[in-house]
Amino acid sequence: MSTIKNLEQELTKIVTELGYKIDHINLVPSGRKELGEFQINDAFSLAKENHTNPREIAENIVAELKKDARFENVNIAGAGFINLSFSEKFYLDFLRSIQKDIKNNLDLEPRKKIIIDYGGANVAKILHVGHLRSANIGEALKRLARLLGMDVIGDVHLGDSGLQSGMVVSEMRRRYPELICFKEDYQGEEFSLPITSGDLSIIYPEASKKAKEDEEEMKNCQKITFQIQKGHLGYNALWNKIKDLSLVEIKKIYNDLNTSFDLWEGELDSFQYIREMLEYLENKKLLEISEGATIMDIKKETDKKEMPPIILVTSNGSYIYETTDLATIFGRMKRFSPDEIWYLADSRQELHFEQVFRASKKSGITKEETKLEFIGFGTMNGPDGKPFKTRDGGVMTLSSLISLVNDETRKRLNPMITNEQEQIKVSKMIAIAALKYADFLPFRTTDYIFEPSKFSDLEGKTGPYLLYSTIRMKSLLKKASTEGYHNYEIKKLKKETDKEVLENLLTMPKVLKKAYDTKSLNDIAEFLYKITSIYNKFYSENHILTSKDEELKTSWLALTNSVYKTNLLLLDILGIEVPEKM
Ligand code: ARG
Repeated sequence: MSTIKNLEQELTKIVTELGYKIDHINLVPSGRKELGEFQINDAFSLAKENHTNPREIAENIVAELKKDARFENVNIAGAGFINLSFSEKFYLDFLRSIQKDIKNNLDLEPRKKIIIDYGGANVAKILHVGHLRSANIGEALKRLARLLGMDVIGDVHLGDSGLQSGMVVSEMRRRYPELICFKEDYQGEEFSLPITSGDLSIIYPEASKKAKEDEEEMKNCQKITFQIQKGHLGYNALWNKIKDLSLVEIKKIYNDLNTSFDLWEGELDSFQYIREMLEYLENKKLLEISEGATIMDIKKETDKKEMPPIILVTSNGSYIYETTDLATIFGRMKRFSPDEIWYLADSRQELHFEQVFRASKKSGITKEETKLEFIGFGTMNGPDGKPFKTRDGGVMTLSSLISLVNDETRKRLNPMITNEQEQIKVSKMIAIAALKYADFLPFRTTDYIFEPSKFSDLEGKTGPYLLYSTIRMKSLLKKASTEGYHNYEIKKLKKETDKEVLENLLTMPKVLKKAYDTKSLNDIAEFLYKITSIYNKFYSENHILTSKDEELKTSWLALTNSVYKTNLLLLDILGIEVPEKM
């Protein structure tokens, strides 16, 4: 049995053998089901190329398709739209194939090596809602790409070389001047950090406030940041310890979000490549000095908008965000030579990435065929349409957002779950599902309003609805297994809603392909809702377990199992876990 793509390839062959030249015939779900479940609209473009009319071409194709037992109800509408449905035999074979292994319903893409740069947490700072989408979308794209056969490396790319390093070190010196790392003659001796992660969450905001209020202090922080960048022994020893402490919290949150990384590298890891990179650019005569800063022109003749040069070394000798991102590419090419690098960040960072990508291409750090892609996203807003804030108007941290949603899901928890530990675990899983699903529903670049109560509801287009329905499928299968049903023989269908379920399952590879091409998960989120709703309709129309017709019963169990497995597969792409019960 084959997927929809194989079917299209076979159709393409049929059409080619009729003497027409076409790369790919498309099977499109039909908008008018009474005419057929799918349609083929390619007769029009073929007619144009062959200087004939589409109806004639459609007739020739239809004559062939009518001979094929997989199709039925093949007809032509209008000037040359071909409509068709699949036969029951076809659907039974399809169901057998996905019943054997749900992955039989996947169309793999040509294998590539891809680095995905997502997450982007900043050391010593708190993860806020702006980091949520980078983690969610990045993780889901990583899982999707892997499922489609890609070789993927996920890198968190921590923000660890910025001004916050100088600020935190300066504040630490104020608080703990006796620390050995501050001694003139510090030689790398071991010492332990006198603070906890709770302290750290206070230290950074305080240090930042002080620097903003006092120009002298700001200069001091900049100086320390510069010294850290240049490898100051004591400051680096301290900053590394702060980094480890901060990472404990950061990892906890990523873990809550079912997000994991292959590489836990950061901006500072790119410093080892900066000198070599600058030499490389210098040799290519690409660098200029402007007002003391080292810059590179990246304008193109075709530019319609202003394109400022990229600054690689500031006038005081510091390296900045542009420097570390370009040096990171330099390092990644050396170590991994990936075919593609994807970057997940807030849409407002688009210009930054465009500058870095241009510099990389122009200088040959990446070859022309290496794809650098910026995957920007919109903002998650609160009910007032502004970036989601705490009740008193402060920045909402990711952990408070998660607990806010958790409060909602906890209220709705099944009272049958009495064990306190389990209550905590399950309600958190549902909260993450609510949060993530709401985040995937709009197209990636769209801003959206997050309403905790609405998205925690068991009804409607929500994560909890999907979990609840999926668990119900599972318990139906479990019940069937206690009655001795384990392998379900697939014999017949009623050709009603059960067929509609299969018709939709058949299109799943197209949904995944579109998500992969657009780098947006919204179609997968919609598809999950659609397939689940249709299945639920089927479930309420039919008494699966009490059916007297054994052949129907086992076929329906197979259908249930296939939707269940499909949901697990897609929820897993989205990084959503399914609890045992809820
Ligand atoms: N740390 C950055 C931030 O919080 C995001 C990092 C994005 N990735 C990158 N390679 N620049 O905005």
